[in-house]
Amino acid sequence: MKAITYEKYGSPDVLSVEEVQKPTPKDDEVLIKVRAASVNPFDWHYLRGEPFFMRLMGAGILKPRNKILGIDIAGRVEAGGGNVKQFQPGDEVFGASDFGALAEYVCAKENALVLKPANVTSEEAAAAPVAALTALQALRDKGEIQPGQKVLINGASGGVGTFAVQIAKSYGAAVTGVCSTGNLEMVRSIGTDHVIDYGQEDFTRNGQRYDLILDAVANRSFSDLKRALGPRGICVIVGFSPALTFQVFFPGPWKFSTGDKKIGMMSAKITKEDLDFLKDLLEAGKVVPVIDRRYPLDEAADALRYLEEGHAKGKIVINIEQDAKT
Ligand SMILES: NC(=O)c1ccc[n+]([C@@H]2O[C@H](COP(=O)([O-])OP(=O)(O)OC[C@H]3O[C@@H](n4cnc5c(N)ncnc54)[C@H](OP(=O)(O)O)[C@@H]3O)[C@@H](O)[C@H]2O)c1
Repeated sequence: MKAITYEKYGSPDVLSVEEVQKPTPKDDEVLIKVRAASVNPFDWHYLRGEPFFMRLMGAGILKPRNKILGIDIAGRVEAGGGNVKQFQPGDEVFGASDFGALAEYVCAKENALVLKPANVTSEEAAAAPVAALTALQALRDKGEIQPGQKVLINGASGGVGTFAVQIAKSYGAAVTGVCSTGNLEMVRSIGTDHVIDYGQEDFTRNGQRYDLILDAVANRSFSDLKRALGPRGICVIVGFSPALTFQVFFPGPWKFSTGDKKIGMMSAKITKEDLDFLKDLLEAGKVVPVIDRRYPLDEAADALRYLEEGHAKGKIVINIEQDAKT
């Protein structure tokens, strides 16, 4: 099968398009013919082997242990391992592999997949898993979102942010999105009640106070974030920054509770329950993935170059089959 591989850490230039052996599913895994994948900042962190402690945590110290990047997938089940009960060959599914999504075939755990709703295209389904579950778990589980709350999404135009805006709206929150000038219209179009152009206005100094902040950028100090929170306000940081990554990778209790406000970090987990929850949101049209760019598999390196610039407008998908738009 064709795959995007890398043998050493580096820029997207180290990626090659190669013919490699098709993977074989373990007992609890499903072999999937990938129709579409999407890329996440995780992928370029793994590509570069940065921050360094990722290498110590299993990515491979001197060179990558897994040669094929990619987590988010949508595709068709080809075969199941011995213990697989939920899927049959031919089922259209979406979810997450541990690695290896940038390829024509990948294996994924049965419990990290759900059936793709018929009204959602493969590229839309592939756009969703990591970014949408991050937004969901940050808002619902860590942020304890409630109807009517004032919720601010910092980084509202990115992969996580575009899902966060829509998920917060589905909970009945009043949502403010923070983004750059060029993305104001797009962020308005996905349902925000207010938008803030970060080049013009500082959301931590405009006198507004929020019940819940989802920070997908991690570019503000704790004292700035605390100032922007109202009484009993919660701020969940999902973005990586050099200063915060160590703590993001070792999530613990709320480390920065100050008075009645909480500021903390989280690391998302792919669970069957939350994929099912997401599936229902997608099926009901309450969440519609925003797709910025589409690349064929051979051009996955360009997709990662673009993502790494840090100004994606929604998600970047890799359409491995030409009909992934359906
Ligand atoms: N904790 C977890 O489990 C987890 C899971 C997924 C992702 N993440 C992390 O979350 C972050 C966001 O991921 P993503 O997939 O959304 O990334 P992305 O698609 O690359 O989006 C980045 C966004 O940041 C915005 N941005 C850049 N500078 C900004 C600023 N000063 N103020 C407000 N927005 C700004 C950009 O918007 P403009 O173009 O408008 O500037 C862009 O839309 C990354 O650091 C990623 O590694 C963490």
